[in-house]
Formats: sequence, C-alpha cells, structure tokens
Amino acid sequence: METIDHVRLNEDGSKLIILDQTQLPNRMEYLEISEAEELYEAIQKLRVRGAPCIGIFAGFAMYVLAQRLDQSTYESFKKEFHEKAAYLNASRPTAVNLSWALRRMEGVVTAQAGRAPAEILPLLRAEAQAILEEDIAMCKAISEHGLGLLKEGDCVLTHCNAGPIATSRYGTAIGPLILGAERGMHLKAFSDETRPLLQGARLTSWELDRAGVDVTLICDNMASMVMKNGWVQFCFVGCDRVAANGDTANKIGTSGVAILAKHYGIPFYVLGPTSTIDMSCPTGDDIKIELRQPDEIKEMWYREPMAPGTVKCFNPAFDVTDHSLISGIITEKGICRAPYEQSLKKLFE
Ligand code: MRU
Repeated sequence: METIDHVRLNEDGSKLIILDQTQLPNRMEYLEISEAEELYEAIQKLRVRGAPCIGIFAGFAMYVLAQRLDQSTYESFKKEFHEKAAYLNASRPTAVNLSWALRRMEGVVTAQAGRAPAEILPLLRAEAQAILEEDIAMCKAISEHGLGLLKEGDCVLTHCNAGPIATSRYGTAIGPLILGAERGMHLKAFSDETRPLLQGARLTSWELDRAGVDVTLICDNMASMVMKNGWVQFCFVGCDRVAANGDTANKIGTSGVAILAKHYGIPFYVLGPTSTIDMSCPTGDDIKIELRQPDEIKEMWYREPMAPGTVKCFNPAFDVTDHSLISGIITEKGICRAPYEQSLKKLFE
C-alpha cells in the first residue's frame, strides 16, 4: 500500500503540512499551517486525529512554533515555549499522546538550560522526528503481535479509526489486517461506521480498501447481529488513554462493542503503543472525557438538520471500556493480560 505522509514539515521546516482528515474519503487535501491558532484548530476540528497522530503532530507543531518565539534569551524562549505547549494541550483532553509528546518537547528545552535558543531548535526538530520514527516502529511491532493471533480467513470487527492516518504507518487496531494483506493473507473486517463523526465509514473502510483487505461497512447498531451470526472472530480497537488498571478510553461506542463481544464470547483486544498508557491515571474514572458540540449529531453530514433545533444533545467523544471486558492489551512489547495492574507496570520497568 502506498504510504501517505500525512504529517510532515515543509521544505524549509517552517510549516507543517497535514492531510486534512475531515475531507476524506472524497478529497485528499493538504493544508500548510504554522500559526498557533491554526495548529490548535487542526487538532480540535479533527483535521489531525487519532491519539498517536496527535502526538506526532504536537511534536512537529512545537518545532514550528519554536522558530517564531522570542530568541533573545533562554529564559524568554523557555517561558514562551511553555505557554504554547499549554495552549496546544488544551485543544483535546482525552488522548494522552498529546500531553506526552508536549512533555517530551518541553523536556528538550529544559535539558538545555542557558543555551542559545538557536542551538536548541535543531534538537527540537530531532525530538519531533524521533517521536515519529518511534511510532513507526511501535505500530509495526503491534501489528506483528496482533497478526500472530489471526489465522487465514478470520474476520475482525473494529470501531472508529486506528489505522495509518491515526498513527504513522500501519496503525494499531487495523495494523494486523494491513500487514496480513501485505503478506498475502485473506483476512476480513467489519468496520463500524462510528457515529457521529464517521471515522469508521470515512477513514477505516477507505484505508482497509486501499490495503486490499475485504472490508464490510456496518452501522454501529448492526454489530450485535454480525457477531450473533458467527461472522466475527475478534474485535480489535485502538485507545486514547489506558489507565494503570487497564480501563481504556477509546471512541464513543467502544465499550458497547466490548459488552457485545463478551456476550457472544468473542475475544476483545485493545491495541496501542506504550505512549498511550498513562500509569499516572489509576482507573478509567480518572480519565477526562471530551464533550463535543451538538451540531455533530444534529446537522453534520445532513442537507438539513435532523433534529429539532431546541433539542438537547449529549455528545461525548469517548467512553471507557472496563478492564474486565478486555482479553488483552497489545503494545509494541507484546500482549498484556489481566491482572493489568501488574502486566502494564512491567512494561515500564
Ligand atoms: O476522535 P478521534 O477520531 O481522534 O478518536 C480516535 C480514536 O478513538 C482511536 O481509536 C484512537 O485514537 C486510537 S488511534 C490509533
């Protein structure tokens, strides 16, 4: 499958070029952005999205912003750098990769105390590039571990989009399917449409189709039926933040898929890099869930509003799947099993 560089620097490194994911699958439009407000908007509006991709974007965004900061003294540079990082960090609260990447970038500045800002810039660029390259390696390893569970002809149900454009390459939840297709295996997938922003319809079915995987799109409320019919052997989903006890925040609707999977006896796996595991967060109750605007439910995608203008809406972007519903958490280091307090802790030892 042709690789898409969906987050990259322009030629002189002064701006970020991103594939605008809100335009997919109909248009492959690239945006060149560099102002703090544009970078914030790109995350908030889901032009760049998917936890690892947001982290990669944040790394390069801080490099781009750093070039525009007051370079007269180390102290003024550090102060402004911190302000910009705090600003970007407020764009979306749930995916931990955002604060994780921003902390890494701030760590570079802190470690160079007293140095001329001009000398710190190349180190910031190198750190952003390292975040990208590490993610490429992690996604490949996750895909290998996930593929190890599958046999020829198996069908995987997935929710939302945890593919190459949500990460760097391959993706997490659908990485095993893409890797399998590259190796000539015939694997199948059901892609949940994923209301309200349709990441499954617009992005996952597009990516799997491009990769030559036999994918069937279903509405979210059809998952129970295809599971009951015996058409699904595994559920693979991504993650935005995994708490220390294994509770996992992912796209709204994921916990429902996990409950159905338990009912029908289908193994339910969470796939994600260790950069998405937040050991400082004890349980799912401690994960902040992003609430989004009602127009995404009532109006977006429709020619005219599909609900009375005055009706109230509840639009959480994520939910938390209880660790008891998860058969395993697949990271680049292998498959963690319950009890997750212990198996996740081991990853960081
Ligand atoms: O709101 P989104 O589209 O950013 O939500 C994305 C997800 O929920 C993904 O499953 C998750 O970030 C993992 S991406 C590898």
